[in-house]
Amino acid sequence: MLEEIKKTAAFIQAETRDFAPEIGIVLGTGLGDFADRIDTKFAIEYKNIPGFPVSTVEGHKGRMIFGEIEGRRVVAMQGRFHYYEGYTMQQVTFPVRVMQQLGIRYLFVSNASGGINTSFRVGDLMVITDHINLMPNPLIGPNLAELGPRFPDMHNCYDKSLIAAATKIAEEENIKLQYGVYVGGTGPTFETQAEYRYFKAIGGDAAGMSTVPEVIVARHMSIPVFGVSVITNCGLSDEVGDHEDVQRQGKKAGVRMEVLFRKMIKNLK
Ligand code: HPA
Repeated sequence: MLEEIKKTAAFIQAETRDFAPEIGIVLGTGLGDFADRIDTKFAIEYKNIPGFPVSTVEGHKGRMIFGEIEGRRVVAMQGRFHYYEGYTMQQVTFPVRVMQQLGIRYLFVSNASGGINTSFRVGDLMVITDHINLMPNPLIGPNLAELGPRFPDMHNCYDKSLIAAATKIAEEENIKLQYGVYVGGTGPTFETQAEYRYFKAIGGDAAGMSTVPEVIVARHMSIPVFGVSVITNCGLSDEVGDHEDVQRQGKKAGVRMEVLFRKMIKNLK
C-alpha cells in the first residue's frame, strides 16, 4: 500500500508543480461550497487521480483542490469516501495517507451529523472533542511502520490547542459553539430511536457516518486534527432523517464553519 500512496502523491506533485500543502481539509456533506472560495491554483477530480476511488454520493463533487486560504497553502477534499459506499477502510482513508505524503502538518475535518445531546439545535456547530468508533478500524492489517506505530495512542486525538484556538475565535466572531463526542457508525441507515438512545448512553453527543476513519489514520501519522460537526438533525426528536435536509442545513451552518476554519488556518504556526 505504501507504494500506491507514494505513486499517487508523485502523480499529484507532478500535476500541481510541487505545490506543497501545509494543511489538509476534508469537507463533509453540504460543506463543499467552502472549497469554491479557496484561492485555487490546481483542482484535480478524484476520477483522474490514480489510486483514488470515485465518489458516489450526491452532494459530493469529488475533487481535490490545491490553493490558498488566508495566504496558507491548503489541499481540500471537496467530498470524501464513505464506508457505506462499499469502499474498504483502506480506500476511505487513502486520501489522508496521500495528503501526509504531500506534506500536510494539520488536518481539518468536517461533517454533517445528527445531534443526540438534547441541548443541541439544528444548525449548531459542534467542535469534536473526542470520538467513539463503531466502524471497522482502518488500521486493521499489517502496520505500515514507516508511517506510524502498531498501537497508536488516541489521547489528544482532537488537538487541545486547536480546540482552544477555535474557542477564542468563536468568541471574537460571536459564533456559538457546542462541544462533544462524535459517534461514527457505518450507515447508510440513520439510527433507530433506540440506537440514538444507545449512542447517548455510551457518551455520544452527535452521530455520523464518516470522519472517524480519516482521523484515526491522521493520528496514526501524528498529524494534529481539528474537527467540526454541523448538526443537521436532532436524533432524539420525532423528525426523520433526510439526506436533502442534511445538505441544506450543512450549507447554512457551513458559512459559520468557514469563518472559523479561515481564522484558525490564518493563525496556525
Ligand atoms: N445519523 C447519522 N449520520 C448523520 C445523521 C444522523 O442522524 N445526520 C447527518 N448525518
